[in-house]
Amino acid sequence: MIRRYQPADRHGIAEVCLRTAAGGGDATGVYSDDTLMPEVFALPYVEYAPELTFVVSDGHRVLGYVLGVADTAAFVEWWRREWGPEFRKRHPAPGPPTGHDPKFSEEALIQAGVEPDRMLIAELDEYPAHLHIDLLPELQGQGFGRKLIDVFRAALASRGVPAVHLGLDAANTDARAFYDRLGFHELPSSRPEAPLLGIDTR
Ligand SMILES: CC(C)(COP(=O)(O)OP(=O)(O)OC[C@H]1O[C@@H](n2cnc3c(N)ncnc32)[C@H](O)[C@@H]1OP(=O)(O)O)[C@@H](O)C(=O)NCCC(=O)NCCS
Repeated sequence: MIRRYQPADRHGIAEVCLRTAAGGGDATGVYSDDTLMPEVFALPYVEYAPELTFVVSDGHRVLGYVLGVADTAAFVEWWRREWGPEFRKRHPAPGPPTGHDPKFSEEALIQAGVEPDRMLIAELDEYPAHLHIDLLPELQGQGFGRKLIDVFRAALASRGVPAVHLGLDAANTDARAFYDRLGFHELPSSRPEAPLLGIDTR
């Protein structure tokens, strides 16, 4: 069942984020601290815009979500002021090596938690909103991704937001096929190593 976010979903959202954060696969243990990925790619959104967080739940736990913000520039301001300083206190420096060597290093991940400027893409005027979507493996391929994107676009449209964008890992070819199928297109500042896609909300 797809429903709006409730505060009790927070932990489940962090879990889904972690289990899908390695190019779509499980990132557990990749970084010295499993809270890092959710604290950069899921929890700030839940905190800033719970009204734009939607989950798939089986009644007991969260199996997937879509989340994002309507106004990326305002979110970046909030992140600088509120999220970044607290994040820095929790994660002052990279931890010990884990035996993994992710392309997105722990140092870069911590930097992303402190400094949100990467979100200020050139197309923000036309595509002010952005989103993240993740489903646990057992939920994938059953139409929930399409439904979540529909719900998210409708929520944005009802707020008068014209279009939404997202960035993805170039290695995540399954996600790319999904977005292509749904009608997302590449934005002008998209690069092969850092794809950037967008779509209207209507
Ligand atoms: C990517 C993801 C959100 C897609 O959601 P999903 O529920 O698996 O996709 P759906 O079943 O809703 O598929 C929607 C459409 O995309 C197509 N599609 C989905 N994955 C595809 C793939 N790998 N190749 C080709 N087509 C694909 C489906 O065939 C379907 O087409 P249709 O509706 O016209 O029949 C989900 O698989 C996921 O969370 N993956 C792991 C985390 C991840 O990669 N997140 C995105 C990070 S940018």
